[in-house]
Amino acid sequence: MTMLEVNGERRTVAMPSDTPLLWVLRDELNLTGTKYGCGMGLCGACTVHLNGKAVRACQTPLASVAAQRVTTIEGLGAPQTLHALQQAWQEEDVPQCGYCQSGQIMSAAALLRHTRNPNDQEIDAAMAGNLCRCGTYVRIRRAIHRAAAVLRKESAA
Ligand code: FES
Ligand code: FES
Repeated sequence: MTMLEVNGERRTVAMPSDTPLLWVLRDELNLTGTKYGCGMGLCGACTVHLNGKAVRACQTPLASVAAQRVTTIEGLGAPQTLHALQQAWQEEDVPQCGYCQSGQIMSAAALLRHTRNPNDQEIDAAMAGNLCRCGTYVRIRRAIHRAAAVLRKESAA
């Protein structure tokens, strides 16, 4: 049994300790917003937060997250109270097929946690490990700028 905290709730999981967190989230906890892309740490579709930092869930064994805090796209905001990034994603109409977008948003959220006003280079560096086959990169960048401005305004209020 492994205990961990997922989206603010304590969960106990009976899966082998080397099971990738991705399968724990999707198959055991039914949190299917986190996607399987490459399974090799190369595409970013499976990005979640571990104690606030972006990690690749496909490369993160269950044992390494015991007693740790995991946040998935489902825990970032709620339908009634979207995270500023989720709101900006809607306003900029970012997704095309949508498959990569949970991972994109989780990487962007980790960036904005420590960089309140990122420039284009900082955005590109932080997002470099998140691939989008539909090529939505320009809209992603715009949405991150938009969300960053909203969050700065909120924190100044
Ligand atoms: S599925 Fe994890 S990085 Fe591609
Ligand atoms: S929106 Fe289709 S892969 Fe990114």
